[in-house]
Amino acid sequence: MNHEIGDPNVHVTLEMVRDAFVRIGAKPDDVVMFHGSLSSMGTVDGGVTTVYDGVLAATAPHGTVAMPSLWYDGTKERENPSLFDVNTSPVYVGALAEGLRLDPRSVRSNHWTHAVGAIGERAEELCADHGKFGPRPSPWSDTAFAHGSPWQKLIDWNALYCFIGVTMRVCTIKHCIEGMLLEHVLEHVPEDKRLEYRNLQMHDCKKQAYAWPFFNGERLQQILTDEGSFVTTKLGSATLGGIRTKTLVARALEIIEGDMESWLNADFIAWRQKCLEA
Ligand SMILES: CC(C)(COP(=O)(O)OP(=O)(O)OC[C@H]1O[C@@H](n2cnc3c(N)ncnc32)[C@H](O)[C@@H]1OP(=O)(O)O)[C@@H](O)C(=O)NCCC(=O)NCCS
Repeated sequence: MNHEIGDPNVHVTLEMVRDAFVRIGAKPDDVVMFHGSLSSMGTVDGGVTTVYDGVLAATAPHGTVAMPSLWYDGTKERENPSLFDVNTSPVYVGALAEGLRLDPRSVRSNHWTHAVGAIGERAEELCADHGKFGPRPSPWSDTAFAHGSPWQKLIDWNALYCFIGVTMRVCTIKHCIEGMLLEHVLEHVPEDKRLEYRNLQMHDCKKQAYAWPFFNGERLQQILTDEGSFVTTKLGSATLGGIRTKTLVARALEIIEGDMESWLNADFIAWRQKCLEA
């Protein structure tokens, strides 16, 4: 996972975090999700807590700050979902996300591959009942990005989705969009055959080739930046970027569905063709 190299001589305070998030559009009572590299900002005075508190200050008085709280890292040791304990299993996606899990104010959704952690006004609501309804296909299970998952709530609530010192290469909510691409194709299949066609998709989170519509997040980021919907500012020595989730999802679907061959792999295109002929 690549990140920008920070300048340790640059010191970052809570006020700097607050002001940077306000510059990219954080508002009172907002829900802000971010992916981040701690070192990319420089030296964060007060450590990880300064970052969460800075986001909460940008969204005061009733804001919420959220991060991915992922435990499943693709290794053999973590392939068994029953080994995941929502209260104790560490997060593998960096010091900021693990720090948020360990913050006594935080809550975490209960999902072995794609949990979300959050602090603030809507944290409990965001993290409740992960995957309890509305299954949506994904290579990691149909619950990870379900219609009843924190990822879908971030879209429904039009959260501000951000990146500190990292790019949309690590954009987890992208898998929700990929699931939607698949759902849209399945809509062409007669209802009584949908399960059969859905099952033609390999359902396996191991790193094997399968017809999943993965797309290039950095390519999409460039387009969204050029059209002005993905905005950036400086946070210490890092780039802070962000976009509203509804814009991200709507534009991603429009752009990719308008030019599938150039975005999606041949296996997915072939599977789609079968569905269209079903
Ligand atoms: C992997 C990743 C986290 C690495 O970034 P990083 O800055 O090197 O590491 P972390 O964010 O874990 O922060 C730890 C580093 O911060 C530095 N650090 C410690 N305290 C610090 C402080 N107060 N201020 C600034 N830096 C500090 C340390 O150098 C530490 O590195 P060390 O472990 O070598 O001592 C980042 O590249 C990334 O990809 N983040 C997003 C991940 C994600 O959300 N993925 C989603 C699924 S794909």
